[in-house]
Amino acid sequence: MTTLIRGGTVITAEQTFRADVLCDDGKIAELGEDLETPTGAEIIDAGGQYVMPGGIDPHTHMQLPFMGTVASEDFYTGTAAAMAGGTTSIIDFVIPDPQQNIMDAYQAWRGWAEKSAADYGFHVAITWWDESVDKDMGTLVREEGVNSFKHFMAYKGAIMADDEILYNSFTRSLALGAMPTVHAENGELVFQLQKKLIAEGITGPEGHPLSRPPAAEGEAANRALRMAEVIGVPLYIVHVSTSDALEEIKRARSNGQRVYGEVLAGHLMIDDSVYRHPDWQTAAAHVMSPPFRAPEHQAALWKGLQGGHLHTTATDHCCFCADQKSMGKDNFAQIPNGTAGVEDRLSVLWTHGVGTGRLTVNEFVAATSANAARIFNIYPQKGSVRVGADADLVVWDPEASKTISVKTHHQNVDYNIFEGMEVKGLASHTLSRGVLTFKDGDLRAVKGAGQYVKRPAFSAAFDALARQAAMKKPVPVKRP
Ligand code: URP
Ligand code: ZN
Ligand code: ZN
Repeated sequence: MTTLIRGGTVITAEQTFRADVLCDDGKIAELGEDLETPTGAEIIDAGGQYVMPGGIDPHTHMQLPFMGTVASEDFYTGTAAAMAGGTTSIIDFVIPDPQQNIMDAYQAWRGWAEKSAADYGFHVAITWWDESVDKDMGTLVREEGVNSFKHFMAYKGAIMADDEILYNSFTRSLALGAMPTVHAENGELVFQLQKKLIAEGITGPEGHPLSRPPAAEGEAANRALRMAEVIGVPLYIVHVSTSDALEEIKRARSNGQRVYGEVLAGHLMIDDSVYRHPDWQTAAAHVMSPPFRAPEHQAALWKGLQGGHLHTTATDHCCFCADQKSMGKDNFAQIPNGTAGVEDRLSVLWTHGVGTGRLTVNEFVAATSANAARIFNIYPQKGSVRVGADADLVVWDPEASKTISVKTHHQNVDYNIFEGMEVKGLASHTLSRGVLTFKDGDLRAVKGAGQYVKRPAFSAAFDALARQAAMKKPVPVKRP
C-alpha cells in the first residue's frame, strides 16, 4: 500500500520542515518537497496542517482484571479510540497475580492483545519474587522483547511490591539492561489511612484523595530513587502527580542519576475538587491512583514538563463504567481505580501546551511520542518521521476544534474526565504502518492489525552505569 501525504509541515522532536511524506509497505519511503506521485498511491492533502509521529501512550491498561472486575475497554476498542485521537502505539502492562507464573500471565496478555488495532508492547509487573521470577525476567528480556518492569508500591494485599521485591527486581533489571518503573505511593500508609477514614465514617469518594496524600507519593518516589541510586540502575516513575515526587526526581537528576518522569494528561488538567462533587457517580468516576491533586501540583507538573524534569505524557487509560464504580458505594477503597483518556491526550496537550505557549510544537512531539520511544528503546522505528521508520503518522489540523464529550468519544466507557473541554488542534488523519485508520472523523481501525513491538534491552546507558559502579566497587581492608 502506497500513500503520499502532500503539502504538510513535518514536525519531529528536533525539526520543523516542509516535506511530502511517501509511505510504502508500512514504512516511510521518501521525504522531500514536491515528491512525484507513484501510480496508484492514495493522496492525503496536508496543506496547512502538520505531519507528526503518531502518539505513543506508554501507560495504558486495556482489559485489565483489577479490583474484582475487568476494565471495560479491550485492546481493540481502546486502540481504535486511540487512533481517532492520533495515537498509534501503546505500551500496556502485564500484571501477574502474586504467585502467578510470570510467563503464563505474559502469554495471557499477549492473547488478549491480538485484537489490537494499533501496535503495542508490554511492561511486565513484578508482583512477587522467587527464582522462577528471576529466570522469567531473563526470558522476557532476551526472547520476548520486554525491556521494562513495573513495580506497584501501592495496592497492599494485592499487587504491591515491597522493598525486598524492589531490591531483587531492580538488581536483576540492571543485569539484564531493562528499565525498572514504579507506581510511587506508600502502600502501607494508604492502607492504614483507608482503614482510619472508613472507621471515622468517611466512606464516599472524598476519602480517596485523603487516603493518598502527596507525602505518600513523595516518600515512595524517594525510596525507589534511593534504592535505584544504591543499586546503580536507571528508574522511570509513572504518573507523577505531585510536586513532592517531582522534587525528588529533580534532586536525583541533579545528583547524576538517570531518572525519567511520566505525567498524565489528567493530572495536568484536573484538580481534586472532583472528589467533593455532590453526585456520587461523578465523584467516583474520577477515582484513580494517584488521585487528582490540588491546583498547585498541576502548576508544578506543567513546569516539570517544560523544564525537562518530566519526559513523557501518558493517560493510564483504565476504564470502569458506572456500574463497576458502584462496587465501592459503601467504601471508597473498593471503587475500581482508573480513568480514561487515550483518545484525548494529544488534543488536550496541544490545546493546553502548544496553544498556551507552554510547549513548542517540537516539545509536544518529544512529550507525546519521541521521548517514550527513546526511553523504551524503540526509537527511531517509532516516534520519528524519517526514511525507514514505521509510517505511524498523524496529520494534525491546528485549526480544527471540538468539545470533548462522552456523547461523541470512541472510548468504551460511560464517562469522560475532560467532558466539556474545548480543544483546538485535532487529528485529521491517522496512519498506522502506512494504513489510513482515521480520516476526517471516519474511524477505520482494523481489529487485529496491530503488531507486537519487541523492545531490545539497553546497552549504552547501562554500560555507563556499570562503569560508574565498578569505579565505586568496595575494596576489602587487608588485615594482618
Ligand atoms: O487508578 C489507576 N491508575 N488504575 C490503574 C492501575 C495503576 O495504578 O496504574
Ligand atoms: Zn499506577
Ligand atoms: Zn497504570
